[in-house]
Amino acid sequence: MSNSLLHDFLRTKNVVQGAFEISEARAYMHDESDYDRQYGLEQYPIDELIREAGHLMDICRKHGLPQGAPVLEIGCGTGRISVGLALQPEMGHLLITDPSPAFCGIVQRKLAGLDVKASRVDFGILQAEDVALLPTGSVSLILLRSVLHHIADVDGFLRSCAAVLPVGGLLVCEEPYYDGYMMMGFLGQFIEDALAGSGYVCTPQERQDVQHFVNTMQFYSRRDVDKSGAEDKHLFRPDELMVTGREMGLELSHYPNWRMTISPEANIQNRLGYFQRFFAEYIRYCMGWTVEFSDRVAVATKKYFQFFEPLETAGNTTPSCFGTFVFTKR
Ligand SMILES: C[S@@+](CC[C@H](N)C(=O)[O-])C[C@H]1O[C@@H](n2cnc3c(N)ncnc32)[C@H](O)[C@@H]1O
Repeated sequence: MSNSLLHDFLRTKNVVQGAFEISEARAYMHDESDYDRQYGLEQYPIDELIREAGHLMDICRKHGLPQGAPVLEIGCGTGRISVGLALQPEMGHLLITDPSPAFCGIVQRKLAGLDVKASRVDFGILQAEDVALLPTGSVSLILLRSVLHHIADVDGFLRSCAAVLPVGGLLVCEEPYYDGYMMMGFLGQFIEDALAGSGYVCTPQERQDVQHFVNTMQFYSRRDVDKSGAEDKHLFRPDELMVTGREMGLELSHYPNWRMTISPEANIQNRLGYFQRFFAEYIRYCMGWTVEFSDRVAVATKKYFQFFEPLETAGNTTPSCFGTFVFTKR
């Protein structure tokens, strides 16, 4: 029933470069063709993508998603989850979208020639802000990975998702938490001193990079500035999302420091030393620091992370840095 609702809706749209034009196209803030290289994803094995999407679908099934239900992915990027989703058995109609036609094109090329298992795969140019254009009940799952924090009006987006989803439908995303990022900025202020304590004097460029990192974390954590021109806009607090979600008929479950694309066992194991690893990977990949400087910082700050060791017992993980949010439409 809802599969045909989605199909009928898409048939009313123009097709541009193989993607249904639901919203106006908008390029990403960085070169789309360089994205996989920046995140070390150029040679990602298909088997691994299938496994990752399988873990993601396990979470969705646990929260009641029926097999074969229509799925909308918003902000597909280079298809880190899209490709694996299209190859999942029992996947229904999958609509893979991004505001950037270049990203849609990259995912289309990655899928070409693969043994797609979804009952149907379509591509769409869609800005999350326009999700309410989809007919009510046309998708049972709305998926976003690292996209919600780019959306200016999160409350408006949640309200629109609540309007589109049928009762029991899911909005699932993986996003940054406020506490961990704010703590990274706080810690960043001590990097130069920690390096000096280990006998290393930062170059002027490194000093500038560290200050940029601290400023970035503080900007990201602030709520009193206009972020409309910024790429990364929000850090999330589950207590707040619970309240806003409830007002819109969306009930929130959340899984801190929990990747939706790895197994529960791996997520539990990852809890030990989570913040230290998250920080090390963030400065290396997201801030683009050199391997040498990132490693130097990781070694010089190691002792401060020992503070968390006794806190990571009985399943506790702190601070929350990144995690999975599952909203269920009531
Ligand atoms: C950090 S990338 C994540 C890509 C992919 N989901 C992944 O996990 O690798 C953010 C993606 O969100 C998209 N995006 C940014 N703002 C958006 C918006 N307002 N609506 C929909 N997508 C958006 C970007 O084009 C980009 O593809």
